Amino acid sequence: MSAMPKEEDMSYTEAIQEASASITRFPLIPVKGVPLMNQIANNWDSIWTFRPDPSDILIATYPKAGTTWTQEIIDLLLHNGDAEACKRAPTPVRSPFLEIYSPPPIPSGLDLLKKMDPPRMIKTHLPIQLVPPAFWENKCKTIYVARNAKDNLVSYYYFDCMNQAQPEPGPWEGYVHKFMRGELAWGSWYDHVKGYWVEKEKRNILYVFYEDMKENPRREIERIMRYLDLSVSDEVISRIVELTSFKNMKENPMANYSCIPASVFDQSISPFMRKGEVGDWKNHFTPEQSKMFEEDYEKQMKDLNIPFKTLI
Ligand code: PPS
Repeated sequence: MSAMPKEEDMSYTEAIQEASASITRFPLIPVKGVPLMNQIANNWDSIWTFRPDPSDILIATYPKAGTTWTQEIIDLLLHNGDAEACKRAPTPVRSPFLEIYSPPPIPSGLDLLKKMDPPRMIKTHLPIQLVPPAFWENKCKTIYVARNAKDNLVSYYYFDCMNQAQPEPGPWEGYVHKFMRGELAWGSWYDHVKGYWVEKEKRNILYVFYEDMKENPRREIERIMRYLDLSVSDEVISRIVELTSFKNMKENPMANYSCIPASVFDQSISPFMRKGEVGDWKNHFTPEQSKMFEEDYEKQMKDLNIPFKTLI
């Protein structure tokens, strides 16, 4: 029998395989009122006191809003559209997930970050009030991606069905209500999108909509490029548009989360790269659910006019 590789020699996938017996649907524990996976709550102090480098880039989203797509776009922009360079490792290793903690020997987001040189692309789902304050002290560039509530909810529902580390989604109808009440992991979608919207000028946050990326990826990739003070040729932009199409990312093993073993991400239940569309909510909400959801939406969003599109 071959000896298990030492922790530091293990690949990310091997580490998850090694830990799979201890991966369960982790309970949520509130941190400053926001429900987070217990592993995150238990390690909160180390996350809150994290000090990024001023050159680090923060990619902030509510779960399932287009994080992976944006991570791929930014990596390609930083590498002048070099597809091979961006296949050096799977997404969560190239662009660590700030607050994630999982059973050993899976490296935490902070463990991965410690081994990388800035500028690093750091993913977070934390609402703005829980982002470690040093990101703002160091004026790190922050890109926030928002997706319309109904499609975001549908995507999250399928993810919670397939991700064996997330709480049980339960039936669809109940899930819609949990979303509306802000009871899912990382809390209220409404507070999340509003929190970053309100602060975007003061904290120099680039606010991007998933629907705009679908409608005109070139325009949004150029916006991200300018915000990051990067400059790549038109030809490279065209290549990045192509490489980050839904179809290409679905087929890219370094972007489609096939790095996570099926015992954790059971992609036979629902693939990580599921549909990648705007308006799929129409296939899931009944007319009654849609009406009820919209009435509640008006109340929760009345203080701000954030221009979400639910169809393009
Ligand atoms: S996570 O787990 O929070 O990081 O997930 P996230 O990456 O934010 O969201 C996953 C959804 O984004 C879709 N996706 C894309 N859509 C269009 N184009 C591209 N390139 C792309 N890449 C990922 C993915 O399919 C999930 O949405 P749904 O609606 O479930 O298909």
